[in-house]
Amino acid sequence: AVQRTFSIVKPDATKRNITGKVNAKIEDAGLRIIAQKRIQLSKEQAGEFYGIHKERPFYNDLVEFMTSGPVVVQVLEGEDAIAKYREVMGATNPKEADAGTIRAEFAESIDANTVHGSDAPETAAEEIPFFFSDDEIVG
Ligand code: CMP
Repeated sequence: AVQRTFSIVKPDATKRNITGKVNAKIEDAGLRIIAQKRIQLSKEQAGEFYGIHKERPFYNDLVEFMTSGPVVVQVLEGEDAIAKYREVMGATNPKEADAGTIRAEFAESIDANTVHGSDAPETAAEEIPFFFSDDEIVG
């Protein structure tokens, strides 16, 4: 079925000026970018967005990294978009990411791993409205 998923192009990508290369990977996979904006996350926003990881040892570094520069938040649409985007991203740890995936090609480390994508329909349904109102999404 046609689904929507939420994506973040992370600060390591904006810093290296490769957001277009990341978007090309997304579009080459048949996913459509139906909403997109470049923003600077506040500590509060990043902390709340990643609230599910609050008790994990990497939480503070994650919030620090995600606020270290601009990010590009996106809504992607396509057939099985959630699973498809996870395939296109590759494993969280770039050392484990399959060849040709965004993280294999571009990620610098498990924190600076270039992209985030929703892991399930329930997560996408929370993450999309966290950043976008309905009128900002044009499918
Ligand atoms: P993301 O999909 O944005 O969700 C949480 C992020 O935490 C993850 O990508 C990684 O960049 C980061 N992270 C750092 N260490 C770990 C870890 N051990 N396990 C999972 N995620 C981690």
